Amino acid sequence: MITGKYPSLRLRRSRKNSWSRRLVSENNLSPSDFILPIFLIEGKNKTQPIKSMPGVYRYSIDRLGIILDRAIKNDIPMVALFPYTSSKLKNDLGSEALNEDNLVCRAIKYIKKRYKNKIGIMCDVALDPYTIHGHDGILKSNKILNDETIEILIQQSLLQAQIGCDVLAPSDMMDGRIGRIRKALEKENLKNTQILSYAVKYASSFYGPFRDAVGSRVALKGDKKTYQMDFRNYDEAIREVALDIKEGADMIMVKPGLPYLDIIRSIKNKFKIPVFAYQVSGEYSMLSNAVEKKIINKDAIFENLMSFKRAGANAIVSYYADRLNEILP
Ligand code: PBG
Repeated sequence: MITGKYPSLRLRRSRKNSWSRRLVSENNLSPSDFILPIFLIEGKNKTQPIKSMPGVYRYSIDRLGIILDRAIKNDIPMVALFPYTSSKLKNDLGSEALNEDNLVCRAIKYIKKRYKNKIGIMCDVALDPYTIHGHDGILKSNKILNDETIEILIQQSLLQAQIGCDVLAPSDMMDGRIGRIRKALEKENLKNTQILSYAVKYASSFYGPFRDAVGSRVALKGDKKTYQMDFRNYDEAIREVALDIKEGADMIMVKPGLPYLDIIRSIKNKFKIPVFAYQVSGEYSMLSNAVEKKIINKDAIFENLMSFKRAGANAIVSYYADRLNEILP
């Protein structure tokens, strides 16, 4: 690479004015780069603040219009639905996940009826909102059972897809679930349901506020280290992605976001597949709190989000996605 040399070369020349900086900018963010997570709650007329996530709310289904109208108006391509499940509906097997009248299913029906295909719907495939112990799979003698969990996840996937979910997002980290879910979808003639695999999901301390939001924090016994990845590992992430692509994933999620930009970049370079970054709840709350306390300037949010794009992410799941007009320049 010939780049010339000082003084004939002065990189500051193209930084001198804003118009020039805009012309040479390598990455940009627009609403099409975002997925908006939405927390659901039972009841009527509820817009319930979440203590550990300033600016984020749980919505009852009759209030979904507030956040969806805005998302569609602002050209957000997709929402991700997460239910706060009352502890009365939780059990060992998470069987509420298979109730066709559960909160997520009713929300899918409501959104599809009212908005058709104006916005995509993504749903988690995992049992943690529904299990009494807060784990993503079936717990027996202190172990999360892989194959038995997959059988339930397949049912959960088919149910959500049949009702109208566009993108299934298995976030459970069981081995082999993408292949089994893909096969079941094919068999049931749900050929066009996309699978966004949380192929690289680390056992992270940054999920705390999310677990408050869905009501699984108090429930959770122990940690998720026997199924979510060890954050010391890089090669293993590449293997996870290779496997999930082979098994039929359309897109790959890396989660959390900011501490894992190296992983996003490598996957993009190696696999040329759509990669999404999840700016998770702990990242959101840390950043929001620091901005609120004026420890850092609000522009730090844009800087943060841009780093995902620069690392190669096609899109970003972010709790800021409903307020981009305040964040993007
Ligand atoms: C559960 C799930 C989690 C998140 C998304 N799906 C939490 C977990 O694995 O414990 C975290 C999202 C966030 O922190 O914003 N399968």
